[in-house]
Amino acid sequence: MAIKAIIFDLDGVITDTAEFHYQSWQQMADEEGLGFSRKKNEQLRGVSRRRSLEIILDGEELPEEEMQRLMDKKNGYYQEKLKQMAPDDMLPGARELVDETRERGLKTAIASASRNAKTVIEALKIGHLFDTISDGHSVENPKPAPDLFLHTAEKLNLDPEECAVLEDAEAGIDAALAAGMTAVGIGPEERVGHGHLRFSSTAEVELDRILKEE
Ligand code: BG6
Ligand code: MG
Repeated sequence: MAIKAIIFDLDGVITDTAEFHYQSWQQMADEEGLGFSRKKNEQLRGVSRRRSLEIILDGEELPEEEMQRLMDKKNGYYQEKLKQMAPDDMLPGARELVDETRERGLKTAIASASRNAKTVIEALKIGHLFDTISDGHSVENPKPAPDLFLHTAEKLNLDPEECAVLEDAEAGIDAALAAGMTAVGIGPEERVGHGHLRFSSTAEVELDRILKEE
């Protein structure tokens, strides 16, 4: 089936909020005396806020109220950082890639695990470039479950096989594969090499190669 839409992940594909997420978790963890590092942060890419905290806690169980407090603290730091975001904070090549996708008559969507996605999209002033936007509020089960991508395909009125997903996270590639979509990894082999195709950065993405994958 021909590919008719490109579904873009937001954090780490369109813009480098991945770094803001990392810095915010690190600040919270340092203040709370929780072990955390840039290396451990690799496991957090693309996963939900709650799952991220569970990974940091490494099996330690906390009362729900305490979980909420730690997640809120991290989110406060993250939202502070988002206030500095401006339209030129897109990753190199991202704007051009979205424009090219639209010029070639394909549909465009954002499917982000983040509950802050709308704020980021408004700061970048890119909402009008997408036919539909799904975020951390759209479905119950986060990536690596296929739900967010399936929900997005439904909103686009397309079959999953007609969609290609651009993802920088292992959990995102897992979700795209589980959804039955063409999974395109952005980043290193060890993180996203299990997709159908891989590019080292958004700037390297070649639409032609994705469209040939069908
Ligand atoms: C994903 C990020 O897009 O959103 C993750 O890659 C993040 O790092 C997740 O944890 C949830 O984001 P938020 O803004 O809802 O805490
Ligand atoms: Mg991402």
